[in-house]
Amino acid sequence: VATTIADVRRQIEALTAATDARPRVALVPTMGALHEGHLALVDRAAELADVVVVSVFVNPLQFTDPADLERYPRDLDADLATLAGHGADIVFAPDVTELYPHGDTATRVTAGKVGGLFEGRSRPGHFDGVLTVVAKLLNIVGPQVVLFGEKDAQQIFLVRRMIADLDLPVAVEEVETVRDDDGLALSSRNRFLDARERRAAVTLPHVLEAAVSASDRGIDAVLAAAQSAAMGEQLVTTDYLAVVHPDTFLPVDDDYTGPARVIVAARVGDTRLIDNAPLYLG
Ligand code: PAJ
Repeated sequence: VATTIADVRRQIEALTAATDARPRVALVPTMGALHEGHLALVDRAAELADVVVVSVFVNPLQFTDPADLERYPRDLDADLATLAGHGADIVFAPDVTELYPHGDTATRVTAGKVGGLFEGRSRPGHFDGVLTVVAKLLNIVGPQVVLFGEKDAQQIFLVRRMIADLDLPVAVEEVETVRDDDGLALSSRNRFLDARERRAAVTLPHVLEAAVSASDRGIDAVLAAAQSAAMGEQLVTTDYLAVVHPDTFLPVDDDYTGPARVIVAARVGDTRLIDNAPLYLG
């Protein structure tokens, strides 16, 4: 475990100096509250790189609701126990003051137009905060590969865009969404669901399945099928439901055919959940 920037750099240096060939470093950025979804990223990182750094940092810059930041689960010991046996070499767990010694950053990465849509519409500034901390972590760790989950599709789209726009020398590896047996995507926020809400939350994967099943009948049929799957459950309120183009993350045109992604966000009780799935519009 390293808690300062100097210390994590020293530890990476020590591990990468130990071999002759220049070893590959992988970074898995997380906010802790680790679950099997995060572990899939760590396992993949260990396949791709010699040195695996997992960062655990609840980034205040990406929270728009102070109550959400406040209640976000933090338990480093539990996270270290979860990571045991999964090939993480270094856990970088800085304090807020280590990454933001001035309380905030004067300089931020901005996520542009797509940063203001979907997740960014309900959480203004969220993606600027995500990209800013990811840029900092990339600069601190200097990995050759950085891993993200498909579960946060807009996040990975915007991270790829930042890396391309700013010519950052790192490859992005995307890892498929890990799900519970009933299809609900694993999320650190699932722990806030009570038993009734947890049962209702399966609506999200059902919406995606309905969309995918209708995908050969065109975009209108896809949205109609998804909307009707979203409606049955009283406890679930849809925030957005859209089908976006993989290259732009903007809603596809009415006559579009080809690869796309259905994205959904919904409130289940007080907990906001997101999910998505690839589909091919015929
Ligand atoms: P966090 O929500 O902790 O997620 C860390 C990484 O785990 C993200 O890349 C996310 O997509 C991935 N992940 C979460 N649930 C997953 C699942 N069920 N299957 C596969 N991957 C999953 O995303 C963040 O943290 C932050 O925004 C961060 C990138 C760390 C910047 O602060």
